Amino acid sequence: MIVPTAGLYKIAYGKYAIGAYNINNLEQTTGLFRGCIDSKAPFIIQLSRGARKYADKRMLEAIIRTAEEIFPEAIFAVHLDHGDEESCYDCIESGFYSSVMIDASHEPFEENVAITKRVVDRAHAAGVSVEAELGMLGGVEEDIKVDEGNACLTNPAEAVEFVRRTGCDALAAAIGTSHGAYKFKGQQSLHFEVIDEIQKRIHGTPIVMHGSSSVPISEVERINAAGGKLDPSARGVNENEYLPAAKLGVTKVNIDTDGRLVWTRVHREFFRDKPSEFDFRPPGKIFMDEYAKFIAHKNGKLGSAGELPNMRKALEKSAAVVAA
Ligand code: G3H
Ligand code: 13P
Ligand code: ZN
Repeated sequence: MIVPTAGLYKIAYGKYAIGAYNINNLEQTTGLFRGCIDSKAPFIIQLSRGARKYADKRMLEAIIRTAEEIFPEAIFAVHLDHGDEESCYDCIESGFYSSVMIDASHEPFEENVAITKRVVDRAHAAGVSVEAELGMLGGVEEDIKVDEGNACLTNPAEAVEFVRRTGCDALAAAIGTSHGAYKFKGQQSLHFEVIDEIQKRIHGTPIVMHGSSSVPISEVERINAAGGKLDPSARGVNENEYLPAAKLGVTKVNIDTDGRLVWTRVHREFFRDKPSEFDFRPPGKIFMDEYAKFIAHKNGKLGSAGELPNMRKALEKSAAVVAA
């Protein structure tokens, strides 16, 4: 069942984080639904502009609708990841999306506020909620590359003003993470002091953590042992930091890269071990199984595993209140 993102936030806020997983094809979608059902977790499916171009947005929408039919027990929201103004309006008008992200974080503060406010006004008129970004993460997102020197953490004082002036429903904050496989070298932690300061000042507004993949060393090593050439010193977010961050209001945790590593590992190992194979379905099947396990594991770390029955009850109760 597709539900409003705001409903998921309201119930999870301060207790656990909802995993927001990017999808691009049917194998990822099937693995995602299976993993969330197996771990009894609500979730958010997110589509980037790149994914909507790669697979055609109508194809992805049809895949999601079909998955909703195949897995009727699933509770999830559909979200546009890193939208610009044009793609946000397209998604708002489609009537299919629970929420959109307007990412104008690369613009100066006043321009970011103005763009975000325009999107919030259009979205709220259509019952769609909005995530907006303040501060700049390092790494690669869509067609924008931010080198580490230019990345900057969100300023908590600016965050209050930004949320107040834009009316956004969730704030994507730069709290020490970056996109892609090459986040950190060595041990690096989330900036909990910044998260804490932000949540105190915008209490009740969910914080979104982008760039939350953990880039497991074991995955990188397996990929490289099967012919890959990933930098073995690459590190991501420590998964044991997801839940402490969730308790401080980090309610949506975006994970894409780790899933890509699962895909790469499965396919590299399969064709290394069976060089005469050319049917893509056997590795596709292994990938769906592995992806489901990966998703269930992540939901365990986010604290969303096991929350599906509570979420269902709470959503039903709030629907009954609205109807009464
Ligand atoms: O933050 C970006 C997400 O990982 C989506 O990546 O734009 O390559 O689909 P993509
Ligand atoms: P990762 O690259 O760490 O998976 O981050 C994904 C993301 O933030 C999508 O918006
Ligand atoms: Zn992101």
